Amino acid sequence: MSRPTIEYHVRDLSLAPEGIKRIQWAAREMPVVSLIRQRFAKERPLEGIRIAGCLHITTETANLALCLKDGGAQLALCASNPLSTQDDVAAALVAEYGIPVFAIRGEDPEIYYQHIRHALDIVPHITLDDGADLVTTLHKERPHQAREVIGGTEETTTGVIRLRSMAQQGALLYPIIAVNEASTKHLFDNRYGTGQSTIDGITRATNILWAGKTVVVAGYGWCGRGVAMRARGLGAKVIITEVDPVKALEAAMDGFMVMPMAQAAPLGDIFITLTGDINVIDRPHLEKMKDGAILANSGHFNVEINIPALEEMSVRKERIRPHVDEYQLADGRRLYLLGEGRLINLAAAEGHPPSVMDMSFANQALAVEYLARLKERLSPAVYNVPKEIDDQVARLKLASMGIQIDALTEEQRRYLSSWEEGT
Ligand code: ADE
Repeated sequence: MSRPTIEYHVRDLSLAPEGIKRIQWAAREMPVVSLIRQRFAKERPLEGIRIAGCLHITTETANLALCLKDGGAQLALCASNPLSTQDDVAAALVAEYGIPVFAIRGEDPEIYYQHIRHALDIVPHITLDDGADLVTTLHKERPHQAREVIGGTEETTTGVIRLRSMAQQGALLYPIIAVNEASTKHLFDNRYGTGQSTIDGITRATNILWAGKTVVVAGYGWCGRGVAMRARGLGAKVIITEVDPVKALEAAMDGFMVMPMAQAAPLGDIFITLTGDINVIDRPHLEKMKDGAILANSGHFNVEINIPALEEMSVRKERIRPHVDEYQLADGRRLYLLGEGRLINLAAAEGHPPSVMDMSFANQALAVEYLARLKERLSPAVYNVPKEIDDQVARLKLASMGIQIDALTEEQRRYLSSWEEGT
C-alpha cells in the first residue's frame, strides 16, 4: 500500500510552466527513451509496480519518470544531491504530471534525508538510485521494507562501489542492477557527458578562458578522461593525477603530463577532482597552490576536496559570484571553491545533456522492466545490465542518429567461431 506522509515538497509550484517547456525541450534529444516510452504506454509492463527514485531532478530525469509512469508504475522521486535539483522541473513533475517529488535545490543534509524517507514511504517494489543514499537509508533505517523490494538500479560509479562493498559484507538485502556498468552508459555518459558538462559548469561559474591554462584533473577513469580530453580541446595544458598505475600509463600515452598531486599543486590554475575518493586535494596541496587557483569537484560526493581544511586555513570567505566562494588564506593567497565542492556540472550547469542521458536512462527503463518481468527474484548481489539491453540501447541510438552498420556475413560468423584456420 502507498502511504505517503506528505504529498510532495518542492520549492514553488508556480515554476511548473517553465519546467514543462524545458522537459519537452530535453525530450527532443532523447529519442531512445521516447521510443521505450511509446512501447511502455502500449504494453504497460510496470502496472502495479511502485518505484522510489533518488536521482538528480533534471529535465532528463523527468523524461525517464514519464516513461516509467506510462509503463504503469507509481513513482515517488527525491534528489540524489542537495544542490542538483532543477526547481522548475520538480514543480512540473508535481503540478503537470502528478508525480510526487521531494526535492528543493539547496536543501540542507537533514531535509535531504527527510526527502529520501518521504520517497521510501511509497514502499517501493523497485528503487532507482544515483550514489546509493536511498538504498543505504532503506537498509539502515527500514530493513523490513527490503521484503517488498524486487530489486533496484544504480546509476553511478560511486554508488556501485558502495553497493559492492555492502554485497561483499553480506549486508545487501536485495539485488541491484549496476546501470553504470553498461557500455552504453559509462562510455558515453561518464566520458562525453561529464567531459562536456564539467567544463560547462566551470565556465558558467567563472567565465574563464581555458586556452593556455594549466588544468589538473584528479582521476583518469571515464569521467576524468572526458574532462581531460575536452580541456585539452579548448587549449589547456592538462596534468593527470592517478593512483592506478594502468590508468596513469594510459594518461601518459594519451599525451598528458602525469605526476603526484603534491607536484601538480603549485602548477595548476584549475583543479578538477573526479576520483570518488576522499581528500584527494588535501591540506598539504592547498598549502602549495598559486594565488587565484580554482577548485572544482565533479565526483559524486563533496568529499574530494578537503573543505574543512580550506575553512581552517582561511581568514575570510566571501561568495563573489554565484557558485564561486573566495577563500582568503592567512598567508594572503586566495583560492576559489566552486559549487561548495559539490558536483559542479549539476551545481552550476544543467548536468549532462539529454542526448547522452538518453542512453543512461534507456538502460534504467529497460533494467526496471527486466526486474518487473522477472519470474523469480534474483538473490541479493550487484548485477550487470544484461548484454541484450546494452546492445539494444546502442542499436536504437544509432538508428536515431541515422547511422547504419554492417552485419557479419555467414562466412565471417563461421570464421570467428572456428579455431582451425590460421596463417
Ligand atoms: N547526472 C549527470 N547529469 C545528469 C542529468 N542531466 N540528469 C540526471 N542525472 C544526471
